[in-house]
Amino acid sequence: MASIDMKNIVKKYGDGFPAVNDVSMDIADGEFMILVGPSGCGKSTLLRMIVGLEDITSGDMVIGGKKVNDKAPRDRNLSMVFQNYALYPHLSVFENIAFPLRLQKAPEDEVKRKVNEAADVLELHEHLQRKPANLSGGQRQRVAMGRAIVRAADAFLFDEPLSNLDAKLRGQMRTEIARLQRRLGITTVYVTHDQTEAMTLGDRVCVLRKGVIQQVASPRELYEQPVNLFVAGFIGSPPMNFLPATLKGNTLDTPFGPIELDDRRAKAVGDRDLVLVGIRPEYFEDASLVEETKKHVGSTFTARVDVTEWLGDSQYAYIPYEAPADVTAQLKELSRELDSDQLRTQAIVSIDSTSRIREGRESKFWLDSRKIHVFDPATGDNLTRDAEAGAELTRLASEDRAEQVEHARNSGLTVTGKHAASDDKAS
Ligand SMILES: Nc1ncnc2c1ncn2[C@@H]1O[C@H](COP(=O)(O)OP(=O)(O)OP(=O)(O)O)[C@@H](O)[C@H]1O
Ligand SMILES: [Mg+2]
Repeated sequence: MASIDMKNIVKKYGDGFPAVNDVSMDIADGEFMILVGPSGCGKSTLLRMIVGLEDITSGDMVIGGKKVNDKAPRDRNLSMVFQNYALYPHLSVFENIAFPLRLQKAPEDEVKRKVNEAADVLELHEHLQRKPANLSGGQRQRVAMGRAIVRAADAFLFDEPLSNLDAKLRGQMRTEIARLQRRLGITTVYVTHDQTEAMTLGDRVCVLRKGVIQQVASPRELYEQPVNLFVAGFIGSPPMNFLPATLKGNTLDTPFGPIELDDRRAKAVGDRDLVLVGIRPEYFEDASLVEETKKHVGSTFTARVDVTEWLGDSQYAYIPYEAPADVTAQLKELSRELDSDQLRTQAIVSIDSTSRIREGRESKFWLDSRKIHVFDPATGDNLTRDAEAGAELTRLASEDRAEQVEHARNSGLTVTGKHAASDDKAS
């Protein structure tokens, strides 16, 4: 169990290009931190520097209060769980879990005790005598985690552990990892580029772009109060829509008609020629299905729908709109960078599944203007971000988290401290 503190971490490979550029981040003891970002943004490099598989060009890596820059991986007492779990096929589950203890030449009774404790937590008792080949993917992963538990690793590190599994198994394993991490209370850093994994697993999520941290916050804060266009476009599926607009007084003039801003947001935007208005698909609705009493918090507009997609529990409508050439070019570039194939000059709108809006027709839509954000097209900055409201969301998330950990500890399921004897430290 340990905290992981990174101070101005830089990684330059041979060609001098910084793959990780001045990353500073404190991961609390027991916290579940997610690293996300498009391919090549430096996620794996950062993880490998934590474990010690990659040299740090400059900056400090501090684990459990001790600087580890020059420590070999085996002296860092961390456990990396790989995609293929690296189990020994000829050994039983028991011996696979016991492996680090055998290396330490631990006495037989200690090995038995520790493996049994780990098997308790991981619900692996009935499989202890089997070989890995006869286990399901989820069971194999638990064995790999068992190995980390018996050696009392200070942290778990995962690099896209589920990326080669099919969708169903992925979902099961995701839940499994979440459950185990909560139970064990072990500091965890988890790399993914999967939206759902990032949003559901993490206490906090760190969004990286070209080696630079954009924002570190709870999933809710990232979603509600993104710092810039990049984070706003990256988090959320289907993604946030960005409409070109100009502001006059408190009114945004957009391709979907006028949108009123409250004083705080209007003041924050100030006097600018062109802005981008960020509207999530779910802020829209079929106007005929919105209660009269609610209508005044948003605006109504008419548009022609290109395509509708009915998904049973929900429905999407695609509405094309006109944008100046430079805005279109910029949004295209953003899409490319986000690895998204989304055409950015059509809005994706989520409407009730009962809506009769159909393609080709002029239809009336309503949009909720309370949560929209306004971005500077040149810098990408979110001009209307409410930092206080955002911080409050992350505070609430950490409160919920503390409660869960407390609950797990009271129910006696965590292994925290149990194995923290000094003879475990080497592996
Ligand atoms: N050994 C290496 N030598 C030189 N450049 C490297 C090396 N490893 C990675 N890079 C470069 O560093 C950058 C970050 O790579 P990294 O593997 O950390 O990305 P990633 O975020 O994990 O991407 P992915 O999602 O594709 O796994 C990339 O531009 C990559 O080309
Ligand atoms: Mg990677």
